[in-house]
Amino acid sequence: MSISPTQIQLIQPDDWHLHIRDGDVMRNVLADVAKQFARAIIMPNLKPPVTTAELAKAYRLRIESQLQSLGVNGFTPMMTLYLTDNTSAVEVRKAKAEGVVAFKLYPAGATTNSDAGVSDLKHCFAVIEAMQKEGMPLLVHGEVTNPEVDIFDREKVFIDRVLEPLRKDFPELKIVFEHITTMQAAHYVRDASACNKNTLAATITPQHLLMNRNAIFVGGIHPHNYCLPVLKREEHRIALLAAATSGNPRFFLGTDSAPHAKGLKENACGCAGCYSTFNALGLYAEAFESVGKLNRLEGFASFFGPDFYALPRNSKIVTLHKQAQAIPCELPFGESTIVPLRFGETIAWSLA
Ligand code: DOR
Ligand code: ZN
Repeated sequence: MSISPTQIQLIQPDDWHLHIRDGDVMRNVLADVAKQFARAIIMPNLKPPVTTAELAKAYRLRIESQLQSLGVNGFTPMMTLYLTDNTSAVEVRKAKAEGVVAFKLYPAGATTNSDAGVSDLKHCFAVIEAMQKEGMPLLVHGEVTNPEVDIFDREKVFIDRVLEPLRKDFPELKIVFEHITTMQAAHYVRDASACNKNTLAATITPQHLLMNRNAIFVGGIHPHNYCLPVLKREEHRIALLAAATSGNPRFFLGTDSAPHAKGLKENACGCAGCYSTFNALGLYAEAFESVGKLNRLEGFASFFGPDFYALPRNSKIVTLHKQAQAIPCELPFGESTIVPLRFGETIAWSLA
């Protein structure tokens, strides 16, 4: 990695948590993704969700055909399967044979298109056992859904009620605690015992490194800053930034960029999700620079993800320039438009 006041050169990053959707809109998202990332973990919460190896294969073929028609070479989608109460252990072996890299746990009702998610992990013990045996990672949306738990506490409660028991029952299972948003999650992952072979890691989004919950409410409601898990207090943002920039390989890049058409965000019941893909690397660079830790960006963005998944690191080098980039107020999104994170603002770092 090389860093000067005007440019950063680093090995090309991957996005270890991304929503690209399907159909027409997927084309616009893929064009933004492939400019920055070599690979991305593709979330399976389509309608209907990607629950079988066969559906994952069909989705991958649709993605590849869009990439081809965009003239994109050198971007690899990494497919995941959506865990349900009924997923069988056999599906794990089928998924592995199909090149699927992970399963995703959505607690039922936790977020966008999670209705078919898991109502109780007890229903999934056989399939999780198979995942542990096959070395297939489980990616978790770490929030409880009990209505009596405050929305700002859902992640913290998930650690005690779900994650810790899960890790006790399946000590060899590889788990990624996705898009962590709290000090408790950052500390839990940092302090997790290494005796079970470093099986736990976490991804962190750019919005949770750059914003606290004021960004949703101050001066009026800001629907484009609303995502799940929701932004938290400043003390949590500071803890996440410390974790991301610590050089600890358990923390790596996952944007959770989750596009929704403008009209579905600016709505009486706006959807959850921030579209950060447009200049995700610039956003991460800004976060790392804010604490004088640009030297830690490459590990977080380009090394620790592939190391955790036991995949080769990328070799191509990309360059970020300190060149102000205006973030547009709207971008094309199929027949509609989408409003990117930090729309109308200027970002200091952008890709060459
Ligand atoms: O804000 C979010 N949007 N969080 C999620 O977990 C899902 C995502 C989506 O798919 O829109
Ligand atoms: Zn997500």
